[in-house]
Formats: sequence, C-alpha cells, structure tokens
Amino acid sequence: MAIQTVATHPIPGQRPGTSGLRKKVEVFRQPHYLENFVQSVFDTLGDCAGKTLVVGGDGRYHNRAAIQTILRMAAAHGYAQVLVGQGGILSTPAVSCVIRKRQASGGIILSASHNPGGPDGDFGIKYNIAAGGPAPEGVTEAIYRRSESIAQYRLSDAPEVDIDRLGVTQVEQTRVEVIDSVADYAELMRGLFDFDAIRKLFAGGFTMRFDGMHAVSGPYAKTIIEGMLGAPEGTVINCVPLEDFGGLHPDPNPVNAAQLIELMGGADAPDFGAASDGDGDRNMIVGRDFDVTPSDSLAILAANATLAPGYRQGLKGIARSMPTSRAADRVAEALGIPCHETPTGWKFFGTLLDAGMATLCGEESYGTGSDHIREKDGVWAVLFWLNLLAATGKPVERIVGEHWERFGRNYYSRHDYEAIDTAAANLLMADLRVKLPALAGQVLNGHTVDFADDFSYTDPVDGSTVTGQGIRIVMTDGSRIVYRLSGTGTEGATLRVYIELYEPDPSQHHRPTQQALASLIAAADSVANIAMQTGRASPSVIT
Ligand code: G6P
Ligand code: ZN
Repeated sequence: MAIQTVATHPIPGQRPGTSGLRKKVEVFRQPHYLENFVQSVFDTLGDCAGKTLVVGGDGRYHNRAAIQTILRMAAAHGYAQVLVGQGGILSTPAVSCVIRKRQASGGIILSASHNPGGPDGDFGIKYNIAAGGPAPEGVTEAIYRRSESIAQYRLSDAPEVDIDRLGVTQVEQTRVEVIDSVADYAELMRGLFDFDAIRKLFAGGFTMRFDGMHAVSGPYAKTIIEGMLGAPEGTVINCVPLEDFGGLHPDPNPVNAAQLIELMGGADAPDFGAASDGDGDRNMIVGRDFDVTPSDSLAILAANATLAPGYRQGLKGIARSMPTSRAADRVAEALGIPCHETPTGWKFFGTLLDAGMATLCGEESYGTGSDHIREKDGVWAVLFWLNLLAATGKPVERIVGEHWERFGRNYYSRHDYEAIDTAAANLLMADLRVKLPALAGQVLNGHTVDFADDFSYTDPVDGSTVTGQGIRIVMTDGSRIVYRLSGTGTEGATLRVYIELYEPDPSQHHRPTQQALASLIAAADSVANIAMQTGRASPSVIT
C-alpha cells in the first residue's frame, strides 16, 4: 500500500448547485473528474488527521466505483476513520443521522436525489458538515474556487474494500468500517414517534402502501414499517435499491408516482399511501383518492406536532422556503412562534436549526424535516403522519379538511417548464426584473399586486446574504406568483412557476386546484410572457 500523488488540471463547471454537484454519469466518469472534486473538498477542509468521515449513497449507477475512489483518497488524507454504509447504501437523512450520532467531522453523500439514474442518468456528490447538514454556501464556493486551480490529488493504491460485508478494513492509517445502513436511523425514529400506538394501528387492520421507487428508502421503510411496526409484508413495495431505479424517475410526486396515485384512487385503496425519492429525503403523503401538498403537510405536522413524543414540548419555530405556500405561516401565528422564510435549498435551514430558532422545516418540493437531523427526511415524515393517524384515529382527508376549516386553505400548484433554452430562461427572468417596480398597485386578473420583488435573504444567525433567489408577486388578497430557475437540473434550464391562492371560505375548499388557481395561472403567463419566451404552450410537469 502506498499513497500516490497524481497530476491533474482544473475541469470547468465543478460549482455545486442547490444540492451538491450534479452531472451526467458520463461527466463523472471522465478521468480525474471525481478525484478533482473530492480533492477540492479535502483541500477546503484542511487537516483531516484524526477525524471521522461518513460515506454513502443512494445506490445509483457509479455509486460503488465512486465510493472506492473516495475511500482511497480519504485514506491518503489521514482520516482516522471512515464509516461506509453496507453495499454503499446510506440515505441522505441516514448520513446526517450517522454524522451526528458518531460525532464525525462530516460526510460525503453520493446522490443526484430524484434525478434518473443508470449509465445515461445523473450522478452527484455533496459534502455535509459536522452538524449533519449540507455545507453552507461559503464552503461550497470555496470548494468550487479550489477546483479551478487544482494541480494534483492524492490517493492510496490500496485494493478495493469489500463494502458488502459489515466490519473493519485498514487502509493506510485509516480504519474503514462498513456499518449497517439502517440501524442508527431506525433507533433515532423509535425515540421520536409513538411506535406502540402505530403498532396497534396496524394490528387493528389499518392498511398502507409505501413506494420505495426502487431507490434508497426501501430498506429503511421495510425495516421500520414492516419490521418494527408490524405492518404486513407487501406494505412496502419497490424496496430494493436498483442502480437505474428500475428505469423510472424516483421523484415522489403525483406525476412520477403515478402507480401509487392510481392505487390510492381505486376501489381497493389502502388507508394511507406514501413514497420517497432517490436518496430518501423527500416524501409524498396520500390519502384515499386525496394527495396532500407538501406545503399543507408541513402546516399540518406543525399544528399537530405535540401528538408525537419527540415534539411533545412544542415547537420553537417553523421555517419554509420562500416558494413554499404560506399555510405554515398561519399555524405559526396561531402557535405564537416565528415562521422563517428562506431561499430554496435545505442548507438554508441549518443555521436556524442549530440556533434553536426552528424545530420543523419544509419545502414545496416534497421535503419536510426537523431538528432531529440536518437534512429533510422522507421516512421521518411518513412516520410522523402515521403517528398522527394513530393518535387521532382520523383518515388523512379528514385531518386535512379540518385543518383547512381552522386555518383556511392555501391552494397551491407548481408549474415546471423543463429543459428549456438557458439563454431564453435567463432573458425571461431579466425581463421580469425590469417589470417589477411598475407592478405594485396593478390589478392582474382581479388580484391587486401588493408588492413585487426579487427575493433576497439575510441569515439571522450568521448574517450572510444571498440575492436573486426568485421573483415574487404578492397580492393584497394573500395570493402569490413566484418565478425561479431551478438549481438542480442537468439539462438546459427549468423554469418553475409557483402559484398560490388563499381561500378562507370553507364552502370553497373542495374545488379542483388548477381550476381554483386559473386566474392566477393566466396572470403568471401573461406577466412573464412564458409561452412566447420559452416556446412552450404549457408546462411539462404540474404538481
Ligand atoms: C433539492 C433541494 C431542495 C430544493 C429542491 C428543488 O431537493 O434539496 O432544497 O427545494 O431540490 O430545487 P430546485 O432548485 O430544483 O427548485
Ligand atoms: Zn432527494
């Protein structure tokens, strides 16, 4: 065994986006590509001696090869210990959990989340810090800058580590331990939720379908829901992580989880449906013929949090990303706690959670989580709902309906225009920015504009500021139109248009969403000239 130094040269474009560096697999397979990025991470971190690193991924194509490279590089940088999930498997929330529980200095997650996998799909890499959350902007920017001047990387020439077998292998001076992918995480969940009550619910004949979408959450859901909570076998489906996710798109929304939605709408629908994404941090909650929007889910969990043992003492605050509906704000107001509005990206919640300013956080993009770790957490959200269903004895649709009656309903939808021309997308946003100052006071299809701006955010804890985080047009009646370009795509640009309408009147709470939002959807199109600027007559995905 010896440590090699390999000469390299900067490869352009290694700037992490909303959630790490994501590129096509073929990009990651170029010589030096992964090594350059990992070396840039280690150079940015400084001395790794004596520290523990956690490594794992969502099992997608290239996961195993990347892990072997990272192990050899970590060993060359003097890590005392590297903890790897068995088979290379660790969900994103599980990495966060293991970092915190084992007091590691950080972790590397190999995932492109919900983006398709396989040789023609996407791959990704992300560094998480000692608190368990994604590295903040300052760190990711430093990694990027380093990647622009890199001249060499170091790695051991040690043979491959058997990552399928639990146990310890010595690589140079580094102790590499293959750990159970699920155990630490399952233990954490047991402490947060009323497992006895949920066990009784299943024993009483309650039925559920959890769709692992052939991605990483399967093993976690299988162990916890079927194993620890006694749900019948077959409750968790598509639960073996596949390198190409079965050729499907592991994104839990009503479009990509169509099979589950169809089941939940049929005559034999189980009582409860749920799904998670590629790396296990997203969640979708479905009742009988009824899907719960992520924004509503956050608000409902917040309003009922004290029913779960881990949150019995109440919430310190709620945080949501700017485009997420303002349903949670109304709950926060009723509870007398703050509701923080952050830019899109889980990394912005980290400082608030660390400072004890928020307990629950969520995003419209099917992400919900709490201060138990520093990532959003798919299985956690599903267990929270199970706890709620067990404690109230009410079905999903009734819990949601009663919530709307109490707080009003925030009708909500996101319209995505995927893979559009990047220059056209930038032009659309630039044109919108020019229009902003003149919008206040204008009436758009019956909605009067209160104010319009380009969202910027100053972190109340560390004082850092980010600008240009999305254009919002806020109406005097509480409605909003928000425009953003996605930071997670790998092909062209994706324009996201978020549309929200506040409806206090319970007699108006059961309209089809697109119909309720029609006047705002039309306004959104005409203000931004979407059809003309993108060449698309309609969105590619509506959720
Ligand atoms: C990832 C991030 C989320 C973000 C979502 C959508 O899941 O972790 O924080 O909300 O992507 O981001 P995008 O930039 O594509 O809208
Ligand atoms: Zn994800």
